[in-house]
Amino acid sequence: QKIVVAVDGPSGSGKSSVSKEAARRLDAAYLDTGAMYRAVTWHALDAGTDLTDARAVAAAVKAADLFISTDPDLELVKIHGTDVTVAIREPFVSEAVSAVATNLEARKELVARQRAIIAAHDRIVAEGRDITTVVAPDADARILLTASEEARLRRRGIQLGGTQSAAELETQVLARDAKDSTVVNFHVAADGVATVDSSDLDFEETVTAVLAAITA
Ligand code: CDP
Repeated sequence: QKIVVAVDGPSGSGKSSVSKEAARRLDAAYLDTGAMYRAVTWHALDAGTDLTDARAVAAAVKAADLFISTDPDLELVKIHGTDVTVAIREPFVSEAVSAVATNLEARKELVARQRAIIAAHDRIVAEGRDITTVVAPDADARILLTASEEARLRRRGIQLGGTQSAAELETQVLARDAKDSTVVNFHVAADGVATVDSSDLDFEETVTAVLAAITA
């Protein structure tokens, strides 16, 4: 039967790897909506779009020829024919992505595309920041994956009290979360959304907890 699973969470909650594994075990497709925000950001930077110009950003997103693989075993993102799977993970993209994420018209466009992708699949796990609340509030299972700030930074490979560059990375991750929170609330579970706190769980335990929330 058709099953849509929505997973939201902050950076470092483990939502990407956990959602992908949950999709494999459910024999479902997998949608990384963050990769879509990253891809259009990469393209805007590549095309020299003025990221402070909200209208230009919205226009670039609307015109974007974007492809994202929904196979949990094939990570592939293309924009205007260019494979950006690896490039979109670069720090310069993470630093610029809020220009798109805070643009309401751009969000509207990406939300519509995400809904179309979800509708095209029988079984799918979609993850991001606003899937349980905006993209798929009527999903069969809705989960907020949280983790303490310490655990999230640890997963991002940041040693607390570490080197200068570790401190910078920490500031960057927390700053991006703070910016994201101004548009979408992914720190508190909406009505009907199950919270899974992964702070003290390992990967397997987190996957098990998420799968349990789906069948609950
Ligand atoms: O690397 P991380 O897991 O923190 O983020 P991501 O899932 O790759 O998403 C990158 C950025 O896209 C986030 O920082 C948000 O600004 C934005 N995003 C969003 O606004 N809404 C979503 N549903 C997914 C991502």
